[in-house]
Amino acid sequence: MKDAQPRTVYLKDYRAPDYLVDSTRLHFELQPQDTLVKSRLQIRRNPAAESAPGETLPPLLLDGVDLELLSLSIDGELVPASRYRELPEGLSIHVQNPEFVLEIHNRINPRDNTSLEGLYLSNGMYCTQCEAEGFRKITYYPDRPDVMSRFTTTIVAPRQYPVLLSNGNQIERRATEDGRLLVTWEDPFAKPAYLFALVAGELQTVEDSFTTASGREVKLQIFTEAKNIRKCDHAMRSLKKAMRWDEEVYGREYDLDIFMVVAVDHFNMGAMENKGLNIFNSACVLASPETATDATFQRIESIVGHEYFHNWSGNRVTCRDWFQLSLKEGFTVFRDAEFSADMNSRAVKRIEDVSLLRTAQFAEDGGPMAHPVRPDSYMEISNFYTLTVYEKGAEVVRMIHTLLGTEGFRKGSDLYFQRHDGCAVTCEDFVAAMEDANGVDLTQFRRWYSQAGTPVLEVSDAFDAAHGTYILTVRQSCPATPGQNKKLPFHIPLAVGLLGADGRDLSLDPQGTTQKVLQVSETEQTFNFTGLKEKPLPSLLRGFSAPVKVRYGYSTEQLLFLMRNDSDEFNRWDAGQRLAFMALEQLQKDYREGRDLQLQPQLVDAYRSVLQNPELDPALVAEMLTLPSAQTLAEQCERIDAEAIIVAREFARGALAEALKGELLDCYRRLDCDKPYRPEAADIAERSLKNTCLAYLCVTEEPELLTLAQAQFENAANMTDSAAALASLVNHAADDMAQPALESFYERWQQDTQVVELWFGLQSTSARRGTLESVRELMQHPAFELTNPNKVRAVIGGFANRNFIQFHRADGRGFEFLAEQVVALDKLNPQIAARLVTPITRWKKYTGELGEKMHRALQSVMESGRLSRDLYEVVSKSLV
Ligand code: ARG
Ligand code: ZN
Repeated sequence: MKDAQPRTVYLKDYRAPDYLVDSTRLHFELQPQDTLVKSRLQIRRNPAAESAPGETLPPLLLDGVDLELLSLSIDGELVPASRYRELPEGLSIHVQNPEFVLEIHNRINPRDNTSLEGLYLSNGMYCTQCEAEGFRKITYYPDRPDVMSRFTTTIVAPRQYPVLLSNGNQIERRATEDGRLLVTWEDPFAKPAYLFALVAGELQTVEDSFTTASGREVKLQIFTEAKNIRKCDHAMRSLKKAMRWDEEVYGREYDLDIFMVVAVDHFNMGAMENKGLNIFNSACVLASPETATDATFQRIESIVGHEYFHNWSGNRVTCRDWFQLSLKEGFTVFRDAEFSADMNSRAVKRIEDVSLLRTAQFAEDGGPMAHPVRPDSYMEISNFYTLTVYEKGAEVVRMIHTLLGTEGFRKGSDLYFQRHDGCAVTCEDFVAAMEDANGVDLTQFRRWYSQAGTPVLEVSDAFDAAHGTYILTVRQSCPATPGQNKKLPFHIPLAVGLLGADGRDLSLDPQGTTQKVLQVSETEQTFNFTGLKEKPLPSLLRGFSAPVKVRYGYSTEQLLFLMRNDSDEFNRWDAGQRLAFMALEQLQKDYREGRDLQLQPQLVDAYRSVLQNPELDPALVAEMLTLPSAQTLAEQCERIDAEAIIVAREFARGALAEALKGELLDCYRRLDCDKPYRPEAADIAERSLKNTCLAYLCVTEEPELLTLAQAQFENAANMTDSAAALASLVNHAADDMAQPALESFYERWQQDTQVVELWFGLQSTSARRGTLESVRELMQHPAFELTNPNKVRAVIGGFANRNFIQFHRADGRGFEFLAEQVVALDKLNPQIAARLVTPITRWKKYTGELGEKMHRALQSVMESGRLSRDLYEVVSKSLV
C-alpha cells in the first residue's frame, strides 16, 4: 500500500542520482501468481552526484512497490538485515564501495496486478507497462529516467508461451532441463527502466521488412492473438510510412535490426514506445475494413507513427525527470501530427487537433488541475499524462517551428539530436538547441513551459484613410490558475492575413507577401500595415498559430465573408464556428429569457452554400457543417448552464436539418455509392460528408429518412458506414427500429473485441432518455469487464465524457453514477479511476443546482474511504 499522506514532488528539488547502473541483467521465471525476478546490477557512484562529499558513501535508494523481497547480495555476499531498510516504497541499502554488483531476488504476482503497471496478465499473455514508474513493480531499482543502463533479459516460461520478447536483439533461445523455454534478449542501447518491456504468450506474427536510407535491412514484426492476425496490415503499412517519413523529414534512421509491435487488450493508454518492442492497446493497432471505422484507421496511423518517432524523440534522447515529460511527448505529438497531415488532408487534421485542444485542453487550463506544459510539482506523475503536456506541448513545439521556419527548425532538431544522443535532458535543452542552431533568443518564449492557462488576445483595429495605414492593436492577458496568480506576457506568433473587398489576400509588402507572423510579446502592442487603399478584413491566428483565444468583434457579415473567401482553410472553418457560436449564444439567451427560439437565417444560408460548393474538400465540408460540440460551448462559457446549451444546440441542429433537408438528401444520394473500401483521404472525406448528411437527416426523425439509415445499416460493406447508420438509429429512431439493429449488430460481431467496444460506445453516448439505465445494464453484460480500460472507457467514459446531454440530466444521477464507478475502479486501477473522475471535477463552472449536485458527487468520492494517490491528488485539488 502506498503512503497514507501522499507526498508532493517538486521540480526545484531535482538532484542528480547518487549512483549509476552500468548494466542491468534481468532473469524472469514466469508464473501467473508467483513470478521470480532476479536482477544483477553493476552499480557505480555517480561522479556528477550532488550529495554532500565525505568519507561515507550515501545509501543506495531503490524504488519498489508490491514486491516480495527474497534476497539481497552485494559482490556475492548476502546483505545482512542490519545493512538495509525496507521503506514504504523501496529499499535503502548501506553502501561500502563506490563500485559493486548488487543482486536482488524478488517475487511478484502478475495475475492479481489489475493496475496494469509493471508486469501483468492480459488474456493469458504476460506484458509490461513501465512508464512512468511501473518498473518498480517488477523489481527494486533506481526507477528514474536519468539512470540509463544496458539491459540483458532472460525469460524462462512454460511451453504454453512460445513467444518470449524483450528489448533489443534475441541472443539465445533453448529448452531448459526441466523442459521450459528460455530466451535471452540484449539491448545494445542504454535506456531508463521506463523503456523496458517483456511479453510472453501464444502469439502469431505478421512480418515485413524495411530498408533504411543507408541500406540496412530491418525486420518488422507485429504480434497478436491468432484471431487478430488479419487485422495487422494497416499498422504495418503505417509503420513503414512512418519510418520513411522520419528519414525524409528529420533525417532519422532506425537503429536496431528488429522492430516489434505487440497488441494487448488490457492497456491503460494508447501505446508505449519501449525500445524495439512497442506495446499497443489492441484498439490502437488492429483494424480491418469490416471492423474498424475511418477514424480508427487514422488513429492507428498516427499512434503507430507516434510510438515509432519516440525512438529518437524519447528513447535516443530521453527525459531527465518526469517534469520534462513534454520534452518527448510534446515534440512527438507535433511529429505525429505533421506525419498525419502529410499522409492525409492537412486542414482537416489541423481542425481535428484544434477542436480537441479547444474543448478538452482549454478546459484543463481553466480547471482545478491546470498546470504548465512543464509542471513544477505533482503527487502522482500518472496524473500528468495530460492534454496540456501532450497537445499543448505539441503546440509549443509548433510555435517554435513557426518562428524558425521549416529549415531553421530542422537545423535545431539536428543539433538537439546530435548534442544529446544517449542522454536524459530537459525542455530547456531542447529550446537551447533551437536557439543555438538559429542564433535567436527564445528567453521570453520559455514562459510557455512555465506558465499555465490559456492566453486571451483582444484584437481591435483602425484604418487611417489619409495615410492608407491599417492598425491592429493586440492586448494579451492570461487568467490566473491554481498557484499562479500573476502571469507575465507570452511571446505569441500571431499569423495574419488581410482580405480586400474582393475576398483576395492583400499584399502586405512590396514582395507580395500575403501572410505575416506578428511577434506579440507585450501586454499591448500595435502593428501597422501601410500602403492600403481601403480598410481590410483581418484573418487572425491563421492555422491556429498559437494556443490562445482570440477576441475580435467580427460581425455576422464579416464572418460569412471569411467563410467564403479566406485563403486559409483552417480559418474558413473557424469563421463558421464563430458564426455558429454566436447563433447558439443567442439561442441560449432566448431560451433563458423565455422567448421563442429561431435560428439565424444567415447561418442556414451559410451552411447551404458550404454544402453546395463543389470546390471544397468534402471532409472540410463535413467539418464546416458540424456545430461546435456541447463541450466546446461549455468551455467557452464563463458559467455553464448545461440545460441552455443542450436546448440551443438541439434546436439548431433540428432547424438546420429541416431547412436543408433537400440539399442534405441530394448530397447524401450523390455520395452513397458502393465502391470498395480504401482508408485513403479522398474516400474517407466522402464517407465523412455522406455520414454527416445522414446524421442531420435522421435528426428530423422522419420515417422515410430513418429508412435511409436502416438501409445503409443493412447494406454497409464497411464499419464506417455501418456504425454511422447505427448511431443515427440509436439516437433518433424509435425502439422498434433501433433495438433490432443493435441486437443484430451484436449478434454478428460478438466475437470481435474491438467491435464490441464500439457497440458499447454507441449505446453509452446515446442522447435518448434512459441512457443512464442502459449504461447500468451494459455493465452487467457478459462482455463488460471493469478490469479492462477499453470497456470502461466505452461504457462509463462514453457516458461521462461524450454524452453531454444524458450525463448532465437534471436529477444529478449521472454524476452520482460516475462517482460510484470511480470509487469501485480505484481499488482495481487507480490510473483509470483518476482519469475517469475528470468530468465532475469541473463543478465550479456550473450554475445552480447542477453545480451543487456535481460538487456533492465529488465529495462523496473523497468521503468513500482511503483513495489511491492518483485519485486523491485529483479529487483533493478539485475540492479546494
Ligand atoms: N509514452 C506513452 C506515449 O505517449 C504513454 C505512456 C503512458 N503511461 C502512463 N503511465 N500514463 O506514447
Ligand atoms: Zn508519447
